[in-house]
Amino acid sequence: MASPKTVRWGILATGGIAKTFTKDLLVDPATRGVQHLRHTVVAAASSSSVSRAQDFLNDTGAPADAKAYGSYQELVSDPNVDIVYIATPHSHHYQNAMLALEAGKPVLCEKAFTVNAEQLRKLADKAKEKELFLMEAVWTRYFPLSIYVREQITSGRIGPVARVFADNSMACDPEVQWKDGTNRMVNPELAGGALLDLGIYSLTWVFQTLYHTQPADARKPPKVLAAMKNYAPTKQADETTTIVLSFPRSHQAGGDAHAIATTSLRVATSPAGNQDVPGIRIQGPGGEIQVFPPAFRPTRTRIVLQDGTVEDKDWPQPGPGEGSGWRNGFGATTNAEGEGHGMFWEADEAADAVINGRKEGRYEGLDESILIMEVMDEARKQGGLTYPDKIETTKYPTQL
Ligand SMILES: NC(=O)c1ccc[n+]([C@@H]2O[C@H](COP(=O)([O-])OP(=O)(O)OC[C@H]3O[C@@H](n4cnc5c(N)ncnc54)[C@H](OP(=O)(O)O)[C@@H]3O)[C@@H](O)[C@H]2O)c1
Repeated sequence: MASPKTVRWGILATGGIAKTFTKDLLVDPATRGVQHLRHTVVAAASSSSVSRAQDFLNDTGAPADAKAYGSYQELVSDPNVDIVYIATPHSHHYQNAMLALEAGKPVLCEKAFTVNAEQLRKLADKAKEKELFLMEAVWTRYFPLSIYVREQITSGRIGPVARVFADNSMACDPEVQWKDGTNRMVNPELAGGALLDLGIYSLTWVFQTLYHTQPADARKPPKVLAAMKNYAPTKQADETTTIVLSFPRSHQAGGDAHAIATTSLRVATSPAGNQDVPGIRIQGPGGEIQVFPPAFRPTRTRIVLQDGTVEDKDWPQPGPGEGSGWRNGFGATTNAEGEGHGMFWEADEAADAVINGRKEGRYEGLDESILIMEVMDEARKQGGLTYPDKIETTKYPTQL
């Protein structure tokens, strides 16, 4: 067998998810059965200081010779960087991704991809012009669990999907947790609110089950009806958003299919962290597929068929394993010892694309990401939510 190819990552930003992603990235891919590639981190950049970037490299266990930069420009100019992972707030993704693409770097960019669809169209055009890989880091799509769910659908297990309920909500107590309103979750200057941060996962489940599972030439944009409740303290951020979607589908394929995508900062999908309520329900005439919370990192599915069959499956995340002393997790959460967070699946996809010359992710191409951004634009339009011009603009460069 050919020896594995190594892909050299540059990490742009040093916040919470950058740390989680980088730690996962450095787990040996063989622990999840991936033999043909390896990841390494050759540089990280902070917009605030070199020392912050150096601390980040030390904390994540990056190789000792990885470079620390005090600006994003230096990172994207580093000839040793094969691909850039962007983990700034979504308000900044357009400017940061354009910076990397202009510098000739492939990009894996955190969700939500951009603030609006027009920004994403511009990035997609730039990636095409420069023949560069560009993918939204919607990690959940690349989980074996998601692949399994899509296979159950395309194999006709529950018949043509007629309806999907998808929720991703967290009872965050925003007035207490983000009291001064500056946190990116509620801050309009950082494109705050539930929809772009959490609702993207509700839409991910709707799209990957109702849209992506259709033959490519049969996929059609949905009709959208949305209700939005504003978060009063910061005014321009949604606290709760509910979207009803109707996907046109031919009579032979089952006719139009409906979905309800919901998200909230105020209430939880399943209170008290019980995770006992299926936040995702995919229904067909033959039964339903249930996915248990959290929608972004599920580890449990259940299939309930009309004939009484019930199939439960657990999907633990692989990693260095128990006894390794290694831990990863996002924010205040810590997974079990040796258990990965699950961000390596999307990293494998991106690295594989860079090695093999693919320009988009296989489980969510740019057209689909743009369509999802269009749905979020429409929800914001119906809900009356706009963000400051400087983060909605497509003008590049714009100083944020
Ligand atoms: N996939 C997932 O599960 C997941 C989970 C959480 C978040 N996310 C996404 O990842 C992105 C970052 O989220 P996060 O929770 O990591 O945020 P965070 O902890 O606040 O980190 C954001 C980082 O961006 C950089 N940054 C640059 N300009 C900034 C500004 N004006 N204000 C704040 N930070 C700025 C900072 O790093 P430097 O100072 O080093 O430049 C900061 O540490 C968001 O788009 C979010 O939606 C994804």
